[in-house]
Amino acid sequence: VKKVLSGIQPSGNLTLGNYIGAMKNFVKLQDEHECYFMVVDLHAITVAQDPAALGEQSEAVAALFIAAGIDPARSNVYLQSHVPQHAELGWIMTTLTAMGELERMTQFKDKSSGKDSVGAGLFVYPSLMAADILIYNADLVPVGEDQKQHLELTRDLAGRFNHRFGEFFTIPEPFIPEVGARIMSLDDGTKKMSKSSPNAGSFIALLDPPDVIRKKISRATTDSGREVIYDPANKPEVSNLMSIYAECSGMTLQQIADRFEGQMYGGFKKELAEVVVASLEPLQQRYHEIRSSGEIADILAHSAERARVVAAQTLAGVKERMGFLPVR
Ligand code: AMP
Ligand code: TRP
Repeated sequence: VKKVLSGIQPSGNLTLGNYIGAMKNFVKLQDEHECYFMVVDLHAITVAQDPAALGEQSEAVAALFIAAGIDPARSNVYLQSHVPQHAELGWIMTTLTAMGELERMTQFKDKSSGKDSVGAGLFVYPSLMAADILIYNADLVPVGEDQKQHLELTRDLAGRFNHRFGEFFTIPEPFIPEVGARIMSLDDGTKKMSKSSPNAGSFIALLDPPDVIRKKISRATTDSGREVIYDPANKPEVSNLMSIYAECSGMTLQQIADRFEGQMYGGFKKELAEVVVASLEPLQQRYHEIRSSGEIADILAHSAERARVVAAQTLAGVKERMGFLPVR
């Protein structure tokens, strides 16, 4: 069976972008693959996190994975920091990565621009991400469009290791949705919807109550035209709302355009809000059930235990090939 790995950072509320771009595919892939879905808390600390909130946020993301439909009996759901081998292989991957490769990463450029002090962790973050993936020899990595460049680096690092130390790592493939790989912000159709945005009106959080969702969608920016047609270059905002509609309803973009032909934005947005509310309702209900059941801690512990076995095996193989003296 093929292996699937992905991770989401516990830095704030997960958004509809995380769900459409990544989590929906986690659920789809779990039927036929061995899956590892990680809350990447070691990645989250590349920007300062409040110690009083980190653990709670991590548990919340794990609960959202399960609420979205990941079955912990079949898939591993755990925290990155509970599998210490990630950090160790991350260091090794850092030594195989060129500075120039990291300097080219657009996420680093975005996150560091305008700051006068940038943590080194933010810079080497893609090497740790490569380790996350390679340590299970994952075949497929379901992510949104913004992670494509990190995946390319991961593939290069796997190839480089194999070339220098002998065939060892599987070269992973990205698994990126055709529609919804890049859900845009509600206040600016040229920016990605992001959970770390200071403007809460710019994203829909998976746990936003129905009335908040309705309000955010009714206030979403739309271009000055009036037709509901999919044209990302000229109508980025409306096109983005159409992608959200498509992903939450299962309709195609063409079906949506036909349905709203001759209507104005108001009616479209009203219906969109109901479609989003209806698609998040079951997830929200399950989330609250899981949190109050208290079963998350056990799920995390069991999954991490399984993950550690696989990770330790890979790491031992890596160290052997690199010539480290074994422990005796
Ligand atoms: P992050 O929130 O940066 O940890 O991202 C977790 C996953 O969600 C990654 O696979 C991202 O590519 C995906 N993702 C984040 N934001 C969006 C978005 N606005 N549209 C589509 N996918 C997204
Ligand atoms: N870098 C990813 C993000 O910001 C999160 C991540 C960390 C990840 N490790 C991963 C995604 C491994 C896929 C596979 O969204």
